[in-house]
Amino acid sequence: MDRKADTPKPVTVYLKDYQPPAWHIEAVELDFDLDPDATRVRSRLHFRRAQETAPGTPLHLDGEALELLGISLDGEPLAADRYRLDEAGLEVRDLPETGLLEIETRIQPAANTELSGLYTSSGNFCTQCEAEGFRRITFYPDRPDVMACFTTTLRADKSACPVLLSNGNPVASGELEDGRHYVTWQDPFPKPCYLFALVAGDLGWIEDRFVTRSGREVDLYIYVQKHNLDKCDHAMASLKRAMKWDEAVYGREYDLDRYMIVAVDDFNMGAMENKGLNIFNSRYVLARPDTATDSDYQNIEGVIGHEYFHNWSGNRVTCRDWFQLSLKEGFTVFRDQEFSADMNSRGVQRITDVNILRTHQFREDAGPMAHPVKPDHYVAIDNFYTVTVYNKGAEVVRMLHTLLGPEAFRRGCDRYFERHDGQAVTTDDFVNALEAANGVSLRQFRCWYDQAGTPELTVERHYDPQACTFALTLRQQCPATPGQSAKQPFHIPVAMGLRDGEGRALPLRLYGEAQAVGESRVLELCQEEETFVFQDIAAEPVPVLLRGFSAPVKLNLDYRDAELALLSAHEDDPFCRWEAGQTLARRLLLTHPPEALTGELIQPLVEACRHTLDDAALDPALRALALTLPGEGYLAEFVDTIEPQQLHGAREALRRALAQALRPEWEACYQALTETGPYSPDAAAAGRRRLRNLCLNYLIACEDEAAYELALGQYRSATNMTDSLAALQALVNSDCPQREAVLEDFYSRWQADTLVVDKWLSLQATAARPDTLDRVQALTGHPAFSLANPNKVYSLLRAFAQGNPVGFHNESGAGYRFIGEQIRTLDARNPQVAARLAAAFTDWRRYNPARQAGMREQLQTMRDAPGVSRDLYEIAERSLG
Ligand code: ARG
Ligand code: ZN
Repeated sequence: MDRKADTPKPVTVYLKDYQPPAWHIEAVELDFDLDPDATRVRSRLHFRRAQETAPGTPLHLDGEALELLGISLDGEPLAADRYRLDEAGLEVRDLPETGLLEIETRIQPAANTELSGLYTSSGNFCTQCEAEGFRRITFYPDRPDVMACFTTTLRADKSACPVLLSNGNPVASGELEDGRHYVTWQDPFPKPCYLFALVAGDLGWIEDRFVTRSGREVDLYIYVQKHNLDKCDHAMASLKRAMKWDEAVYGREYDLDRYMIVAVDDFNMGAMENKGLNIFNSRYVLARPDTATDSDYQNIEGVIGHEYFHNWSGNRVTCRDWFQLSLKEGFTVFRDQEFSADMNSRGVQRITDVNILRTHQFREDAGPMAHPVKPDHYVAIDNFYTVTVYNKGAEVVRMLHTLLGPEAFRRGCDRYFERHDGQAVTTDDFVNALEAANGVSLRQFRCWYDQAGTPELTVERHYDPQACTFALTLRQQCPATPGQSAKQPFHIPVAMGLRDGEGRALPLRLYGEAQAVGESRVLELCQEEETFVFQDIAAEPVPVLLRGFSAPVKLNLDYRDAELALLSAHEDDPFCRWEAGQTLARRLLLTHPPEALTGELIQPLVEACRHTLDDAALDPALRALALTLPGEGYLAEFVDTIEPQQLHGAREALRRALAQALRPEWEACYQALTETGPYSPDAAAAGRRRLRNLCLNYLIACEDEAAYELALGQYRSATNMTDSLAALQALVNSDCPQREAVLEDFYSRWQADTLVVDKWLSLQATAARPDTLDRVQALTGHPAFSLANPNKVYSLLRAFAQGNPVGFHNESGAGYRFIGEQIRTLDARNPQVAARLAAAFTDWRRYNPARQAGMREQLQTMRDAPGVSRDLYEIAERSLG
């Protein structure tokens, strides 16, 4: 491999090499003299040698992009031969057992384009330290198992930065010379440095109050740029709901006197749970009915909940090392999913979460980036904030919940928080606590943390009419993944039931049981193959498996179409009911050419859709989900070689056929759901808008004047962003002659609102039109776009590369070359974001030879680029590997 001599080969970090810290930091005092171009940071580290550490062992402090101005020990300048500085940081020798190290550094926040460490966003100072950003602020043992009490003083110009925030509580403040002022903050809870935060700037805020279950009063603040002050109410209401929910469901109370949230426009990820001072990507805070869609409202509630829940699952109990990331992320995603399910519709939430998992995580698990929920090596840890660690990690916790039941699960969580409060621990400690609290063994279950890949569950059934027994044989198999050729069998909870020919649920008596135990139960598959025999079954039943999607596996069961139709009409588990309909549609889409998807062939699906549309008793949101055809990304998981145009063509053909076959029904449903009252983001209202906009989406597929008029009318009269954007999207993806005019109108109306402009960019990037690549290329030069802002990169470039398969995978290879070039440019400024965009190339082996060559060429160019970042190198190298 031809790497430039000046680019050191990235180092791989292994879980097996973990060593506890040799030195502890008991307390740290930080003093910031804030200036966008030259910020001075003075740090006072109260260190202590760990008991197990031999005297003479040097203290290693991580540091990156820092200018060292001075270093002293216990008040005396440190001699030059007592420390050594290199790219990785600072090594200090011959230290006493305890003492005080004082280090002064200079950093340049305004020049920090990586958005890791201390940087500026819209002229305000903010930080992002997880995973390894703190080392870009000052020299420090930047690892989560070093926990210290932080006291932070911020000094800044008072007119530029009237607001000065850090973790914990303000303990002192005052005026300084030259129009500067200061505030000192103290965080009483020891924490790893990845939870450190500071914010300084000219911000407005809203305030509220929450009284905890035990009567503690907590002041709540949301800080934003002043022009956004009218978009904070939903976030605040969500925060209060989250605080209440964690008390009710987990018995967890908040522990400081204040909880602060700050929204910034430039942020690599979604949000960050810094102790007492969460920093958010503004897209997960700001909402007003005319600027945010229903799904924005949902996401805000979910992410606000997520970061709040981290206060216990992440902050009070944190991770020993970054291999344990899912300890906090998997658990916290599970917690936020359940919170959202309780606040809205449980069925809709579950189907949404399963969709994300199966479309994105299954794909990751089947490709070269596959890794266990607990990875065992990495080059750049930021590459492992993945759907596997987050979403599959949440499924693993969900399975524990399913296997133990809610009470035992809660007992186990109580034990975990009690045992490990104030500690940095491992996923094993979590499972141990669940075991200990309930006297059970989860030995085999631990495979879910260590083995990558999506297990396949194959089901064979046998009905014996003489004996009136029904046997289900379950067999599991997990494909090989990089570095793991053979796998141990998993412990798989299979929630199931049986239905008779009329769709009625049957009582379930397993062989050897005296009587039936309910109509839904959880089978535990632990061997490679097991058979479960049900008794008293008078006629061949229809089995229902994986209710609630009880395990993250692929199910193979040879359902007859009539059985799927029966389940899609009668099953009461929302996931299995929806899944039956999706399976019917998927079979049509994958086994017939687009032009065959008409007439007789699709009649059963048409009837099922008609039935769903008319089923007034069914929640409109569930009806909308059932009437939405499986996505192209999900369908791609079922073919050997992905032909994007073919999948897209089939899906479009079926959508058009359903549109025409049910035209009066779509229209009637659309009209019946017309609403006039004020906007509310609640689940019921959002569900009605979702179904109505889905009707519009089918109607526009008819491509006629009446449909265009309907969409144009909705665009003009919409009073909320959900309806406005749905109409715009329908028009942009149609041949309506006014498409361009409406797009222009939207931009001129919203150009001052950066989050709305993001929607405008995404819409164009995902449009299924032949000129989309040209348009996306042109938009990179539009004033609305900037490579400096991650949201813009995600809205335009990632939306195109990962949300527009037909455009990106264009046979000419132009899409690959364009995105590859953007990634290389971006890598020099923001490696984390560049690496995330590069994921679009990871699955290159799934395409035909011409596409493989085009994608591989880009990966090689990225990997071999002079000065390539660790982040991008790792993605490219693993993908090619
Ligand atoms: N802990 C944050 C969350 O999920 C994510 C921060 C990740 N940041 C990063 N640069 N990798 O809530
Ligand atoms: Zn998180």
